[in-house]
Amino acid sequence: MATKHIIVEDLSVEYLGPTKKIYALQHVSLEIYRGESIALVGESGCGKSTLGVAFIRLLPVNSRITSGRIRFVDGSREINILELSQSELQKIRWSKIVMMAQGALNAFNPVMRIKDHFIDTAYSHGWKNKTEVLKKARYLLERVHLDSERVLNSFPHELSGGMRQRVLLSLGLFLNPEVVILDEPTTALDILTQRNIIELLKELKKEFNFTLIFITHDLSLAAELADRVAVMYAGKIVEVGDVYNIFGTPYHPYTAGLITSTPKLRGKSTEITSIPGSPPNLSEIFKGCPFYERCPLRSSVCLNTPPTLTFVDGQEGHFVACHHASKDTLSKIRQSDWLSTIQK
Ligand SMILES: Nc1ncnc2c1ncn2[C@@H]1O[C@H](COP(=O)(O)OP(=O)(O)OP(=O)(O)O)[C@@H](O)[C@H]1O
Ligand SMILES: [Mg+2]
Repeated sequence: MATKHIIVEDLSVEYLGPTKKIYALQHVSLEIYRGESIALVGESGCGKSTLGVAFIRLLPVNSRITSGRIRFVDGSREINILELSQSELQKIRWSKIVMMAQGALNAFNPVMRIKDHFIDTAYSHGWKNKTEVLKKARYLLERVHLDSERVLNSFPHELSGGMRQRVLLSLGLFLNPEVVILDEPTTALDILTQRNIIELLKELKKEFNFTLIFITHDLSLAAELADRVAVMYAGKIVEVGDVYNIFGTPYHPYTAGLITSTPKLRGKSTEITSIPGSPPNLSEIFKGCPFYERCPLRSSVCLNTPPTLTFVDGQEGHFVACHHASKDTLSKIRQSDWLSTIQK
């Protein structure tokens, strides 16, 4: 029986823009299990990074959490991340939950050698002995297949993108975190390097046994690395389940659309770019289903009644938010002319 590690309940986050609010997360609930690997997927702007940073409350200053809780199960106690003081949060970040943010590859301090990045991280969490820090750094750098001596003495710009990603992973693992959150870890890398990083992640996961939450546009990456997949659309989770159920029998027309418009799930990596229409404006709260405008299966009920995440009968852990969800969604989508414009 899987044990819960992080429980997100009814989380809503908004950003205050210069002229309007953006409702980036709207009543999101999600359970993450200890030791699993879960992918958050969806088109650009659907709220993946917002959810990722919310896990460790690293939201920007112009944001506001308007509802919900994020419970982290820490041994025998449970902590609501949203109620921690800054110093308590500081203790949890890196040592319990580490996040490698989107674009973090470019966030190394350019005037600091890699070894100083390790020393800084370790010292800010109570380490005092430089020799011990460098010993562990060397071990971790070797685990990600880097030449530790060379890398420790390098400046970030002297390393390739793939090498920096490896350094970032070893830095992230320095304090033995239980949860690792990776936001688009391979997006900036070429395909061959992406493949190597994926293989490396599988190895690290096996050895260090952390819970992995990763955010990606890339369905092939999700299919390869995830035990479970949560599909997001317009600030909500619209479908969540086991990777085989999500890709084999998606119930939500949006999930089916993503799969159908992705040429191949294996092999060359592909981005979600080709569903007709565009996601809605997040400065409005929808009365009905946010996917209504683009959905080939829509009916009048979808316009006024918001669908809630509902259990899919007979498929453990599979939930979908759609009034027309069925096991035949994928074939209905394939038969509809909805995607024909992009398949020609
Ligand atoms: N700091 C911010 N201020 C105002 N709006 C923001 C801010 N950060 C994100 N948003 C908006 O919130 C919504 C969700 O953004 P988020 O970055 O979480 O999406 P995402 O799914 O990670 O997208 P991408 O795939 O492009 O990284 C978007 O409409 C985005 O424009
Ligand atoms: Mg993002």
